[in-house]
Amino acid sequence: KKSLWLNVLPDDLWIRVKYGVTIYEALRKTTLDLDTECNGLGTCGKCKIKVITPIGPPDRQEQRLLSSEELDQGIRLACRTPIRKDLVVFSDTQRDPTELFQILKHGQTQDIALDPLLDRIPVLVPPPDLQTAASDFHRLRSVLGASRDNLKITHGCLSTLYADLRATEFRGEALLHRECMLAWSPVGSPNGRYGVIFDIGTTTLVGKLIDLDQGVEKGVISRLNAQTRFGSNIISRIQYLRDTKNGLRRLRRLLLNDLNAILRRLARAGGIEPHHIFVAVAAGNTTMQHLLLGLDPSGIAEAPFAPVITEGVTFPTQKVGLELHPDAMLYVMPAKSGYIGGDLISFILASGAADQETELVLGLDLGTNGEIFLGNGRRLLTCSAAAGPALEGARIQHGMIAKSGAIESVRGLEGELRYNVIGNIKPKGLCGSGLVDLAAVLLHHGVLDAEGVLGHHGRDTEFELLPARLAPRPRSEVMDFVVATPEESFDGRTIKLLQNDIRELQLAKGAVAAAVQLLMDEMGVTVDRIDRVCMAGALGNYVNPLSAMRIGMLPFLDPAKIVSMGNAAATGATLALISKAQWQRANAIADLADHVELSLHPGFYEAFIAAMDFPDRNVW
Ligand code: FES
Repeated sequence: KKSLWLNVLPDDLWIRVKYGVTIYEALRKTTLDLDTECNGLGTCGKCKIKVITPIGPPDRQEQRLLSSEELDQGIRLACRTPIRKDLVVFSDTQRDPTELFQILKHGQTQDIALDPLLDRIPVLVPPPDLQTAASDFHRLRSVLGASRDNLKITHGCLSTLYADLRATEFRGEALLHRECMLAWSPVGSPNGRYGVIFDIGTTTLVGKLIDLDQGVEKGVISRLNAQTRFGSNIISRIQYLRDTKNGLRRLRRLLLNDLNAILRRLARAGGIEPHHIFVAVAAGNTTMQHLLLGLDPSGIAEAPFAPVITEGVTFPTQKVGLELHPDAMLYVMPAKSGYIGGDLISFILASGAADQETELVLGLDLGTNGEIFLGNGRRLLTCSAAAGPALEGARIQHGMIAKSGAIESVRGLEGELRYNVIGNIKPKGLCGSGLVDLAAVLLHHGVLDAEGVLGHHGRDTEFELLPARLAPRPRSEVMDFVVATPEESFDGRTIKLLQNDIRELQLAKGAVAAAVQLLMDEMGVTVDRIDRVCMAGALGNYVNPLSAMRIGMLPFLDPAKIVSMGNAAATGATLALISKAQWQRANAIADLADHVELSLHPGFYEAFIAAMDFPDRNVW
């Protein structure tokens, strides 16, 4: 029997399955953890999943184990649902699937005059006449005006121009990218009405469909980067492509497959075909941008960390391998260096820092790595801090990425620990923002001291509940902290914050804090000169700024100055797509920015050691 597709939202996994296997069996092969107590026997009723594609009626077991309300919402048991056609399912039954577009949507905050990278110019071309016998292209160029005297045309456009002009009775729209005509389009056709942007993250890929007439998002799709199976960070990817025959080709192919899948879904969301799209902008870190263009990023992995290119470049998408219109153009954002990529330049563009003459903006993009900038339109400093993976929950005993089951925020209320768990279930572990919050609460209550030692430090005499969660290790002075007991946790395990986890956090936050300090020193300013702090990235967007200050990752400043930018790389790429002035500004930012190489900086080590300790000062 034929194979079918199972599309799992919101992670947007696409799984090839054999006809008739159950959703449960299909999901077992992925990293998604499906709740089960009966291992697929159909008796526990735990493996709930929302099936979006219409399918046949529920079987007896489903009717018995699911409420009629759940059945009405399309919730089914994965182990009782065989796949007999292409299916779209939603793995998070708590959430409404239509939310997906909302969650990722970040509205435009600045007023930008629309002047997209693609021009659509309505024209009435004079029909050919005997007197001049001017060519079709010549007549077209002359009606576009003197400013288009240097107009070029793609071979694809030229090859159908004779028929296209006549089919539209010489009335239509010329689609131009800078000085090149890409297509002749009938009036009212969706050709060229939309553009796309890609945020090419090491872990997550995001695509947005942008209406170029209105400058608004029409759809957002995100997807796990399939390259993650060859390493979670760029260094391991580079290692892979160096060690493997055709490694670069394979990594690039995986990326293009993902991006083309995103494109198809975006087009479907906008009610168009991918070949109606003529322009795209991509932003990513320097390595990911290299992989997209098929360039070898090996130079980035070792000193002196030289990439092949940092300039912003425009290529026909067909050459790159993106399946838009064959003559569409892709612009890849400029980068600054091997570690200051197009994503940081996009972030700076989105923050508006470069538009400021006097206001001083600090920007932190905190995820697996930390990229930081400080400055304005006069002077702009950038650096990359090896913050390490702790801030994304990695290398922490019970750490996890921010997904269902992760403790995302922690408060100490009347001496007891209160936390929020993503998905409103019992906790499975701590993600980065939860870890930062927890450390802040423990510092506040004197369960953690400035040097990072867990223990009874005596500040909190009023409440004994938090200290009671300290768990001494047998025959040792070392204490760990019990975040959730087996009864409180999702899977009956004790969730602990170990003393070593605190060390990992100190290394990560110390690297960020030292980087911020050195940029301030380099700029010759103190923290009170900073007017605005922009936060972006997996951690940056979700971390509680007060907690980040309490643990000393951010300097102490007025929390009202801190703004969360959402997906700043995508916003910057969108700005470059919808406005030529913003596109030029992105290039100007890359020229203006200075890159401070921390590993060479004489003061870095000292600043890093100093920033490892926690501040001895409460913020609330
Ligand atoms: Fe228990 Fe499906 S796994 S009912």
